[in-house]
Amino acid sequence: MNPPNSLLPASTGSLQISHLPSPSNLGTTNSLLRFSLVVPTYNESENILNVIKILSQLLDEVIPGDYELIVVDDDSPDHTWEVAESLMPKYPQLQVMRRTSERGLSSAVIRGWQAARGQVLGVIDGDLQHPPHILSQLLSAIEQGADVAVASRHVEGGGVSSWSVIRRFLSRGAQLLGLILLPGVLGRVSDPMSGYFMVRRNCIAGLILKPVGYKILIEVLGRGTVRHIIEVPYVFQERTRGESKVTWKQYTDYLHHLVRLRLTQGRIGRISERIGFPIGRFIRFGLVGLSGVFVDMTLLYLLSDPSTLGWPLTRSKIIAGEFAVMNNFLWNDKWTFADVAFEQQGWRQRCKRFLKFNMVCLLGLVINVLILNLVFNFLIPNRYIANLIAIAVSTIWNFWVNLKLSWRVTQVK
Ligand code: GDD
Ligand code: MN
Repeated sequence: MNPPNSLLPASTGSLQISHLPSPSNLGTTNSLLRFSLVVPTYNESENILNVIKILSQLLDEVIPGDYELIVVDDDSPDHTWEVAESLMPKYPQLQVMRRTSERGLSSAVIRGWQAARGQVLGVIDGDLQHPPHILSQLLSAIEQGADVAVASRHVEGGGVSSWSVIRRFLSRGAQLLGLILLPGVLGRVSDPMSGYFMVRRNCIAGLILKPVGYKILIEVLGRGTVRHIIEVPYVFQERTRGESKVTWKQYTDYLHHLVRLRLTQGRIGRISERIGFPIGRFIRFGLVGLSGVFVDMTLLYLLSDPSTLGWPLTRSKIIAGEFAVMNNFLWNDKWTFADVAFEQQGWRQRCKRFLKFNMVCLLGLVINVLILNLVFNFLIPNRYIANLIAIAVSTIWNFWVNLKLSWRVTQVK
C-alpha cells in the first residue's frame, strides 16, 4: 500500500487489469473495496476540488469506507494532479496518479483500474458534466446483478443539455457508423459513446485491453465477458469551467478503434486464434503496404520513366523502396502495431523499431530486386507486373519477420 498522501505509481506495460487477490493474500492495510471510481483529468484544476468534494460526500453516504476515488491526470500543464494531491489529507478515500509518459482518456481510465482495489470499477468525467447523483443508481444496478451499468443520454429521461447541432450530428453519425461496423457491440446499448459507467471487475480482468482515444465503453463491451447490462438515464450537463478536449483526433481514433475491434473480435479474430496467424494484423500490414506501393510506384515513375528523369532502374528502385519503407514504418507503428508500440513508448524505442524494420525491409528489398530482375529478365518482360510480384513476396517476408523481431509480437491477435 502506498504511504499516505503519496501519488500512486503509474503502471506501464500492457493494459491488463488483474483479478482481485483473495482477501487472505491482502494483509490488513491493503483491504479489498466494493467500488473504485476513476476520474480521468486533463487541465481540470478549476473543477477537481468540486468534483472530489461532491463525489466523496455522495459515496460517504452510499458506501462509507468501501470505495476509493482515483484521479488519473496526464501531467496537466495546469497542475490538476497537484491540486488533487493537496486534497488527499482531507479525503482519505482519494488516490492520485500522475502519468508523465502516456496520454489519452481511455488508457488513463485503465491505468486507474489497474491500480484499483475495487470489485466494481467505474469511470466519471472530471468536469461535472456527468451528474454524480446517478452513481447510486448505477451501483444499485450492479447490486441487482448487472455486469455493466451505463449512464445513458438516449433512454427515456436522458438527454444532452447543450450540445451544438454539429456535435449532436457527429455523435449520432459516429454511433451509426459503429452500428454498421460492430453491430454486436454497439447495438447492445443505447449510448455506446457514454463515458459514464461501471463494470464488474471480473468481466474484464486478465484481458489485454487496447482502446484508442475516448471510447472506453466500446472496448469493455467489445472484449469483456459482459452478459447483463442495465442503463440509467441522465442528462449530460453543460461544462461550466475549463474546456472540452474533444478534437477531430477523437473521431479518427474512434474509427481506428472500430476497425481494430472489427479485425480482432469478429469472425476474423476467431479464425486467427484457430489457425494461429494474425489475419487482422496482416490485413492492416497489407493495407499499409499498399500505401507503400503507391509511394514506391510514384517515385519509380518520377525517377526512372523515360518521360521523366529517366534514371537507371535499380538506382531509382532503391530510392523509391527506401521512401516506401519509411512510409510503411510510420503507418505500421501508428496503426498495425499501435497496441504494441503503446507499450514501448519513447523516441529511443521507436528509433530501435525503425532501424530493425528498415533492416528487415532492406533484406526484403534485396529479395524484391532479385525477384524483380528474375521475373523481368526470365519470365514476364513487363517491369510493373514484375515489380508487383516482387513486392508481394517481400511483403510476406516483411510481415512475419517484423512481427517477430521489430515489434516482438507474441500474441496471435
Ligand atoms: N487523463 C486524461 N488524459 N484525461 C483526459 C484526457 C487525457 O488525454 N482528455 C480528456 N480527459 C478528461 C477530461 O479532463 C474530462 O475529465 C474527461 O476526460 C472528458 O473529457 P472532455 O473533453 O470533457 O470530453 P467531453 O465532455 O467532450 O465528452 C465526454 O462525454 C461524452 C458523453 O459521455 C467524454 O466522456 C466522451 O467520451 C463521452 O462520449
Ligand atoms: Mn466534458
